[in-house]
Amino acid sequence: MKVLVTGGTGYIGSHTVLCLLEAGHQVAVVDNLINSSAESLRRVQELTGQDISFHHVDLLDEAALTGVFATEEVDAVIHFAGLKAVGESVQKPLQYYHNNVSGTISLLRVMDAFDVRTIVFSSSATVYGEKNPVPYIEKMDIGANNPYGRTKEQVEDILSDIGAADDRWHVALLRYFNPVGAHESGRIGEDPLGIPNNLVPFIAQVAVGRRDKLMVFGGDYDTPDGTALRDYIHVMDLSEGHVAAVDYVAATAGVHRWNLGSGIGSSVFDVLHAFERAVGHPLPYEVAPRRAGDLPGFWADPSAALADLSWSTTKTLDQMCEDHWRWQKNNPNGYAAS
Ligand code: NAD
Ligand code: WQD
Repeated sequence: MKVLVTGGTGYIGSHTVLCLLEAGHQVAVVDNLINSSAESLRRVQELTGQDISFHHVDLLDEAALTGVFATEEVDAVIHFAGLKAVGESVQKPLQYYHNNVSGTISLLRVMDAFDVRTIVFSSSATVYGEKNPVPYIEKMDIGANNPYGRTKEQVEDILSDIGAADDRWHVALLRYFNPVGAHESGRIGEDPLGIPNNLVPFIAQVAVGRRDKLMVFGGDYDTPDGTALRDYIHVMDLSEGHVAAVDYVAATAGVHRWNLGSGIGSSVFDVLHAFERAVGHPLPYEVAPRRAGDLPGFWADPSAALADLSWSTTKTLDQMCEDHWRWQKNNPNGYAAS
């Protein structure tokens, strides 16, 4: 199958491109490089020995996107392209709705025009909001509590409506939990711009000497060690989940929703200590007040993905931290020095 990957130079996209190529698919990538570097794809080509056709195009530019579909014989789309910082989305909601929702509408219009109606969409566990009990199950009502999450919810609604109106659409809505880690080669990984928002990239930058210490947001949650629980998933497991999902939906019409998580809740201290084991020494930290908007704990019920896709996570928290550390140690400034 020829798969067009939007956002394919980004963190999860670049790992998924690698897994798609290794599974025997052909890949074309569209990205506007607003939060990534094309160096990631050069390295995926080096790791796989295969060519990837790259289009430096913004999804909002429907004419340019039409040009991409006119030159590539696309069978299916995996749609990662989007802005993803929760805090920034609160400050700049219009930018988030425009980029994430309008960008997706532009993509869907062009797909429809070219009779390409198979799509795998990057949704997020954040759509479950703050009212649902854990573990989260796909059939629960959703309701995100921030603009970023609402862009994901709105795109889920759009894709569900399209699927209901026209049975030629094949749609997968993938709700990811907390992706971390890197390809085991240490050649590709997460390369956040500026100060990392997320836990593991922040710890990795402390370990490599770019930050003084980790601030642990909240030590007084009602959890075993007082810090918040999340469902961390290795980016390679997540990427394999995309390959399974695109293969499944290519053959099965309708709208499908799957959690991609491990089903295990790990605390901030669990993650910090796993990273310390990978690095080989303790890392400086300080317990700070809770971060606004954070929940005490959430994790996936991953049984639907196991039943339908025969997919489940295989990698431990220690492996996630070892692989993340290898990437960070070998590339202290990410792709910048390349
Ligand atoms: P990322 O920022 O590394 O990748 C997103 C890519 O999309 C970037 O390369 C960026 O340049 C590109 N992009 C953004 N807007 C674009 C546009 N208008 N046109 C073309 N390209 C555009 O992020 P990631 O962590 O790889 O996340 C991929 C997807 O998964 C995102 O949609 C994100 O919301 C979703 N997601 C991420 C997480 C996470 O914690 N990383 C969790 C759940 C869901
Ligand atoms: C994990 C835990 C923090 C940083 C976010 C988005 C979510 C999804 C994944 C896209 C929390 C704590 C963090 C730090 C800390 N993204 N922490 N010190 O908040 O679960 O999810 O990324 O869809 O939508 O909200 O992930 O990695 O930011 O935080 O103590 O410097 O680590 O408080 O308990 P989160 P995270």
